[in-house]
Amino acid sequence: MLFFIVVLMKRVNIGTRKTAFVLQIKRERLNFEAKENAMNLTKESIISLLADEEHEQDLLQKADTVRRQYVGDEVHLRGLIEFSNICRNNCLYCGIRKGNKQACRYRMEPEELVETARRAAGMGFKTIVMQSGEDMYYTSERMCRIIEEIKKFDVAVTLSIGERSYEEYKAFREAGADRYLMRIETTDKDLYHKLDPEMSWQKRYECLLMIKELGYELGSGIMIGLPEQTLESIADDLLFLQDLGVDMAGIGPFIPHPDTPLAQEKGGALHLALRTMAIMRLLLPDINIPATTAMESLHPQGRIMALQGGANVIMPNVTDGEYRRLYELYPGKAGANDNPAHGCSIVGQKIISIGRKIGTGYGGHTKTLLDK
Ligand code: 5AD
Repeated sequence: MLFFIVVLMKRVNIGTRKTAFVLQIKRERLNFEAKENAMNLTKESIISLLADEEHEQDLLQKADTVRRQYVGDEVHLRGLIEFSNICRNNCLYCGIRKGNKQACRYRMEPEELVETARRAAGMGFKTIVMQSGEDMYYTSERMCRIIEEIKKFDVAVTLSIGERSYEEYKAFREAGADRYLMRIETTDKDLYHKLDPEMSWQKRYECLLMIKELGYELGSGIMIGLPEQTLESIADDLLFLQDLGVDMAGIGPFIPHPDTPLAQEKGGALHLALRTMAIMRLLLPDINIPATTAMESLHPQGRIMALQGGANVIMPNVTDGEYRRLYELYPGKAGANDNPAHGCSIVGQKIISIGRKIGTGYGGHTKTLLDK
């Protein structure tokens, strides 16, 4: 059945595609060899691949081959610190939305956050990801001081703290932040605004452009299986991420949270999420693609399946104790009751068990930032 995919991919190469997005930014940091080799899949062929449950294994194998060819066998680990679940936003799908009165809120103080990062660096992590809800207690000044402290541990610093102003993104970058993660969630603007009527898709998109322009490595991504989301819109999402030239793309299944307005919706689209991720690898062959926690939350081997279908990054949670249970974006989050050391050793064993290696460098997409 590999034949089917090869034929499809040959066919789609000749198609030309007009993109809906005009990017004002230059792509000087893009790896041009990878860009030339990226499969020029048309929207129609992406939709066919997304719909094709029968040939899923062929698609994942193809993505695995491309992954090996472009980024090798190393799996890069990122130490994820979930430092505050306080959020000013009210996204319908999210367990830490401000309207969820059941959520027990917490926020680490800056010293505790820096200490958690110090421990993670001591465990060997070369990247620290700081993630939180949009918690404005973390002013630009506070955030910059934290970044400066954590940079002393010889790690790449990734921020995932949502929408901020250009000045703030600039200040974080100057303080030493290397990378920024912010998912676009969906490129279907109507759906996006239904999922959070108070937010603006355009504003989020502009934030992504600012982050890129400031020289961060940019990670974005989407959720799969949202109510009313179509295969056509997922194909648009993939082409959007390709056009934006993201350095990392996180793709995870939507999992309904019982204390949100979407509690009764159907979730759990693990296989569709895996196929989406595999196609992402074909469209952007040399980027970083995480095996997401949401995939592992739906299946005990979810991350292994992802690593064997195009992924090359895992983000183990290094948050301590009670906090990791309280950062409940969705229920049943893998590792919620674990501790950092044990969680990391399980992840390490899984990587070795499938014949892969644990990355030893900073593991960025571009070699320019740190891996000189
Ligand atoms: N199911 C799956 N993923 C979710 N996220 C938030 N809520 C959910 C949910 N219910 C994802 C979003 C967000 C990331 C941090 O977590 O994509 O960007």
